[in-house]
Amino acid sequence: MNSPVSAASLYHRVSRVMPRAEWMSHEADVEAILDLKRRRNAVILAHNYQTPDIFHGVADIVGDSLALARKAVEVDADVIVLAGVHFMAETAKLLNPSKTVLIPDMQAGCSLADSITPEDVALLRQAHPGVPIITYVNTSAAVKAASDICCTSGNARKVVESLGVPKVLMIPDEYLARNVARETNVEILAWHGHCEVHELFNVQDVRDLREAHPGVVVLAHPECPPDVVAEADFAGSTAVMSDYVGDKKPARVVLLTECSMSDNVAVQHPAVEFIRPCNLCPHMKRITLANIRTALEENRHEVTVDPAVAEGARRAVERMLAI
Ligand code: 13P
Ligand code: SF4
Repeated sequence: MNSPVSAASLYHRVSRVMPRAEWMSHEADVEAILDLKRRRNAVILAHNYQTPDIFHGVADIVGDSLALARKAVEVDADVIVLAGVHFMAETAKLLNPSKTVLIPDMQAGCSLADSITPEDVALLRQAHPGVPIITYVNTSAAVKAASDICCTSGNARKVVESLGVPKVLMIPDEYLARNVARETNVEILAWHGHCEVHELFNVQDVRDLREAHPGVVVLAHPECPPDVVAEADFAGSTAVMSDYVGDKKPARVVLLTECSMSDNVAVQHPAVEFIRPCNLCPHMKRITLANIRTALEENRHEVTVDPAVAEGARRAVERMLAI
């Protein structure tokens, strides 16, 4: 039998972005979580915006929203802890209805998910009869159920073009919709939701960064305003940005996205200099080692999906995953 991994032996994974004293303050929680995972046959799915102690210390599966949804289908465990925000936990539950899905803090929401209701989607259908509705995964299960198909920032253009129609509605992220519209001939009608983190970046930020850090390669998340994306060198989902750094190994890079992303990617690429202006997502930051530990100890907070919407929402997610 393999002997359990000690938390102290994992420090090397985060040593580039965290002083040893800070890691030592996490060791008791890391140790307890590793033990709880074994005893409860649990896995931790962590989004790229989780802090390095979670991302590199206790997570089993990490990635962008698309990867987490895809990998959630393959999970062989009794319990899934979603270290991310509520819509991600709902998606994991939709794809694993018989498993226990826990989120360490029920208040971990998302400004995009909060920007639209199923009633809004019904009104959009009335106003645009016959136009398919593509829903970003950053939405509630009820909104997904009211739509035709989901997308993530990693596959949005593919989903739009897969439908073979001249016009689609893409909800709720206005900027994602407008950024995809620049890459396709399909007409895209947008909703007015925004990510409270990415909407803060502006064109002057990019120009100032270029001036202060000559040669810096600027990568932007497609939830940023379109003029920011246009000013950047490349745009893509969190996983696509991470792959870009791995493939191209730019000498200097800046990721226009949530703060923890640079820390997590920097760990894997010691030769790349990361410039770090960043905006914190207050929802992602509700998840901590302490509340992951409590979630596993006390089996909370269990995420359920109303059976009245689960089937429709699952259909929209599975339709996306089939592309
Ligand atoms: P990704 O799908 O690119 O990981 O984005 C999720 C998210 O919430 C970005 O703000
Ligand atoms: Fe939502 Fe933006 Fe936070 Fe992502 S970063 S979870 S889109 S508020």
